[in-house]
Amino acid sequence: MKTKQLEELKRECQDCLRCELGKTRINIVFSDGNPKTARAILIGEAPGENEDKTGTPFVGRAGKLLNEFLEKAGISREKDLYIINTVKCRPPKNRVPADSEKKACEDYLLKQIEIINPKLLIFCGATALKSFYDKKIAISKIRGEVLELEIGGEKRKCIPIFHPSYLLRYHSLEEGSPRDLMLKDLQKIKMFINK
Ligand code: URA
Repeated sequence: MKTKQLEELKRECQDCLRCELGKTRINIVFSDGNPKTARAILIGEAPGENEDKTGTPFVGRAGKLLNEFLEKAGISREKDLYIINTVKCRPPKNRVPADSEKKACEDYLLKQIEIINPKLLIFCGATALKSFYDKKIAISKIRGEVLELEIGGEKRKCIPIFHPSYLLRYHSLEEGSPRDLMLKDLQKIKMFINK
């Protein structure tokens, strides 16, 4: 059932020209992970060059770093997560997607959330956070907190985390460093989804 609904939605996205990003994409980047077993949906920012080429989210440098952190925290990318982005097409030169582009793509994203109906939404980075949370707050101040937000007419638990691109700039693992906090947040997420 889920698979069929998602396949139909994907076909719709493949023909989508609701915003300018549709004109320059190579592929739509619909999702990764297993819709049947996923306990959480991880929402990133937008596809980059590698994602546009392959049609799969988080396969470039940031994606590889994300995979390392997931593995360290004991979260299976293939089984525990369903991975999407705020927009399905690559913004030129990897710029941040415009509000109008996110709005144009919002229906697809909400449909995916509704179909999967996960235990948790993970906002990976400031762009995903801002798409759902209207208070002005830095990701560094709110990461790791469990928020309860109304999304698509349902109250949903959400946890913001750093985006792996941000972590590419910080290598320290010492207590309180961005990488240390990312691991702690993912360990918390692991506990949360296994409850
Ligand atoms: N960054 C994102 O936010 N999403 C991707 O799919 C790849 C990089």
